[in-house]
Parts: sequence; C-alpha cells; structure tokens
Amino acid sequence: MKILAIDTSCDETAAAIVDGRKVLSNVIYSQILIHKKWGGVVPSLAKRAHEERIDLVVNECLKKSKIQDLRSRIDYIAVTAGPGLAVALEVGIKKAKELAEKYNKKLIAVNHLEGHIYSPFVQNSKGNPKREFKFPYLALIVSGGHTELVILKNHLQYEVIGQAIDDASGEALDKAAKMLGLGYPGGPVIERLANSVGNKDFYGFPRPMIKSKDLKFSFSGLKTSFYYYINKLKPEEKVSRVKELVSSFQEAVFDTIVKKTDRAITQTGINRLVVGGGVAANLYLRKKLRKLVKKHKGEVIFPPFQYLTGDNAAMIGVAAFYKAQKKIFADAQTLDRQPRMIL
Ligand code: KG4
Ligand code: ZN
Repeated sequence: MKILAIDTSCDETAAAIVDGRKVLSNVIYSQILIHKKWGGVVPSLAKRAHEERIDLVVNECLKKSKIQDLRSRIDYIAVTAGPGLAVALEVGIKKAKELAEKYNKKLIAVNHLEGHIYSPFVQNSKGNPKREFKFPYLALIVSGGHTELVILKNHLQYEVIGQAIDDASGEALDKAAKMLGLGYPGGPVIERLANSVGNKDFYGFPRPMIKSKDLKFSFSGLKTSFYYYINKLKPEEKVSRVKELVSSFQEAVFDTIVKKTDRAITQTGINRLVVGGGVAANLYLRKKLRKLVKKHKGEVIFPPFQYLTGDNAAMIGVAAFYKAQKKIFADAQTLDRQPRMIL
C-alpha cells in the first residue's frame, strides 16, 4: 500500500512516499535559514515559504520514488492536520485536498505527534531496521513544540500521561541559545558546546517540578532563572563561560526529562521506551535514556535515521498506513487544520 504524505506543521515543507513502513522517497525543505535571523519561527514567513515550495517538494518526492503516475500507483494521500502553526498547516492540507480531488484518492489526517511516536518504526526502502512491534510502549516525545509521555497501548491507541505545562524541552533549549546569541535552532549548537566540556553541570540551575509526583513537565521557571543568571554576568563572561552555561542548562532539561520518564516507567510498569522529536537527535540524551532503561531492564528505540528525529513526512506516512489498515479516513469536505490537536 503506497501513501503520499505531506507535513507542513512548522518550518519544514515535507513530503514522502511510503509503502507500509518502508520509505520510498522523502523530501524535506527546511526553512531554518529563513527564520534563523529572527531567532525563531515567524508564522507569516513560514506560510509563504510553504506555499512557494510545496509543489516542488511533492513533485521531487514523486520523481525520487520513480512513481510518475500518482493516479495508478498511489493509494492514499495523508496529511498532518495538527498540532502546529495554523497558517503553515493550511498549506499542506490545501495541497493534499487538491491532489485527493484531482486523482480521486481518499485522505488520511494524521496528528503530528502520532508521526513522532511512529518515527522509531520507520524503515528505509529495503525494509530496515526490521523491528517488530511489542506493545505496550511508553512513548516520549521531545520536540520544539512538545514534551509528552504517552502510553502506546496498541496501534493508534494513545493515553497521554504527562506533558509540558509551559515551554517544551526543545523550545527551552532554543530560548536559552537565543539569550546567548547562539542562533536558531538552539538544540544542536548547545549539544556541541556542552559536549566540549564533558556535559557537566557547572551551575546547578533549578529543575522545576522534579519533586512533584506527577508527570508534568515545566521548563519556563528554568528559563527564567537562566535569564536572570546570565543578565548578572559581564558581557565578556557570557562569552567566556558560554560552554559551561549551556552545558548546565542542557543538563537541567535532560535531567528533568530522564527523571520524569523514570517515574513514568515505574508507575506504568512499561519498560519499553520509544523516543521521537527533534531533541531525540541529541546523543547525550540518548545515552542517558539508554542508561535509564537498562536500570529498568527494558529497551529504548530511537528513530533509526537522523532525519526522522526532526519534522518529516515519512513518519506521517507510516502512521497513516496504520490508519488506512483500519479504514480511518478523513472527510475532504470537513478536514481542517487543528493547531491545538491532541492525541
Ligand atoms: O521535532 P522538531 O523538528 O519540530 C517540532 O515538532 O517541534 O523539533 C525541533 C526541536 C528544536 O527545538 C531544536 O532545537 C531541537 O528539536 N533539536 C535538538 C537537536 N536537534 C534539534 N535538541 C537537542 N539536541 C539536538 N541535537
Ligand atoms: Zn515535530
């Protein structure tokens, strides 16, 4: 079963063609260079860039997969309906509807977070890695927009057990980087700088809500205390201590993620962890999570290819495949963007 999937939820214009869990082609046009100078995603610029690129991205994706004829070779068209930026989501949905109508295909609406949850199970065109599903899983989503703990009971059956009450983990890293003039996105540059000083915790910034028994995440208090701390420093100290500062900040974020995940494993008794989202690209976080599941005699599965951690349409296509199997289709008349869509 072949699906053409589209994701325009934030600052990547993405299309992919999947055959079951196998990715036949995948195209991602990143808008990072457009938003970089503003230190974050600017909605109006994102909308325009999506509109300018969507046809190109879809066509490139069809070409790469060697599927010339959408009408006879593609079964369904999938699209991210939310959560995300309304004006960005709209572009992908409009395109998906247009293609569905033109080629007489059924539409599948996918929650972007479902995509991140399925991302560890996406395979390359040869069907690797071969990983089978062993439900239930505990899913940890760590991205620019979300930090969530979800029980994946079976295909498409989610129970959210913890989430961010303010800033998401990736957002916190982005904001800390912005405060120090390190540019956008912050995660990768912080990873590199922190690594160079051994990922140590030099300052002991607070870990909000770490002691509370629930599974809620909060990073805005950490951000505020970081802000006040660096504003007390002399300009030259901000530069000379930048590695130590970001290493300590990253440690506070990751320590919180690991402790809450630890609690979630204990509370649910589920020791098989799947991790998705942009922050899951971080090798130091991966190391910490590996150590955590080892303690619980479990396992952790990460997206097998780097592009699957960030936003992409391959993960949307794979989630859509399980929806198609259950005949869960969207109504083209009523399908609309849901910026605050929940699982
Ligand atoms: O999943 P994603 O591409 O977009 C959302 O759905 O939000 O995640 C983007 C986030 C950004 O906050 C970015 O700073 C973070 O992922 N990120 C990283 C790394 N690469 C990207 N965070 C930590 N370490 C990384 N290597
Ligand atoms: Zn995402």
